[in-house]
Amino acid sequence: MANTNKYTLIDGRKVASEIKKEIADRVAELKRNNKKLPHLAIILVGDDGGSTTYVDGKVKACKEVGFHYSLLRFADTISEERLLKHVDQINNDEDIDGFIVQLPLPPRISVERVTEKVLPEKDVDGFTNENFGSITSANPHIFPATPFGVMELLRRYNVDTNGKHCVVVGASRLVGAPLSMMLAEQGRATVTICHKYTKDLASHTRQADILLVAVGKPGLITGDMVKEGVVVIDIGTTRVEDTTKERGFSLKGDVDFDSVAPKCSMITPVPGGVGPMTIVSLLMNTLKAAEQNTR
Ligand code: GUN
Repeated sequence: MANTNKYTLIDGRKVASEIKKEIADRVAELKRNNKKLPHLAIILVGDDGGSTTYVDGKVKACKEVGFHYSLLRFADTISEERLLKHVDQINNDEDIDGFIVQLPLPPRISVERVTEKVLPEKDVDGFTNENFGSITSANPHIFPATPFGVMELLRRYNVDTNGKHCVVVGASRLVGAPLSMMLAEQGRATVTICHKYTKDLASHTRQADILLVAVGKPGLITGDMVKEGVVVIDIGTTRVEDTTKERGFSLKGDVDFDSVAPKCSMITPVPGGVGPMTIVSLLMNTLKAAEQNTR
């Protein structure tokens, strides 16, 4: 019988904790030299459960590495105009190196107007058009956080993307689109971008040396859709009801792990794969913003 456990499980938790340790060491060095410590501000509008959990995780990560942080909470009745004023205030606050506006925002508020108001050098989520466009520049400023986490995970597991065929499923502005550009630019890969209009998705995914999926459809990719030896990066995290869990849900990736993993050389689990890397990317971006903060 074939050995079905030949794949390497890519351990995002382990890599994330190694990077946090590296960042904490750097903060300790800044402290020893009486330098200003990195300061991350987080804007949270409303009390959506998912967003509050994410923000709690970001605050905890700041504490772990020794960053200063500010959490600014507003009721979901706040007007767009007032929110934009707060963004402006943080833009002008010299002590704050980086900040994020946690999404989603209430539907009346334009995400585009709010995210574009953030100064690109403080945009540690990498959401602004300027940071998105700078991926293809000779000197990129700040990489979008989730794609940055994926690239770092590949790098630390010595997955060489140079000349490989990467197939990205999902072309969202926050994940799939910038990730595709980073794989082509920094990773020197040949990249196919698939999205909801793609015909015969499996004919593309089967060609992938590295398959990266970010669509939010649990179990979309099944074993018959990948070739032997593929590296699979599952960026999906959908909450599905799970009465066996105290919190009432579990997280499901876009990849049907049980049928796909036996064909892989490497694969990320959900949870514990890409997820832990996104917060760490935010910390790496904040450290970079702080080191470049000459104000
Ligand atoms: N909501 C879900 N993920 C994210 C993220 O990475 N950044 C922000 N700002 N909001 C989010």
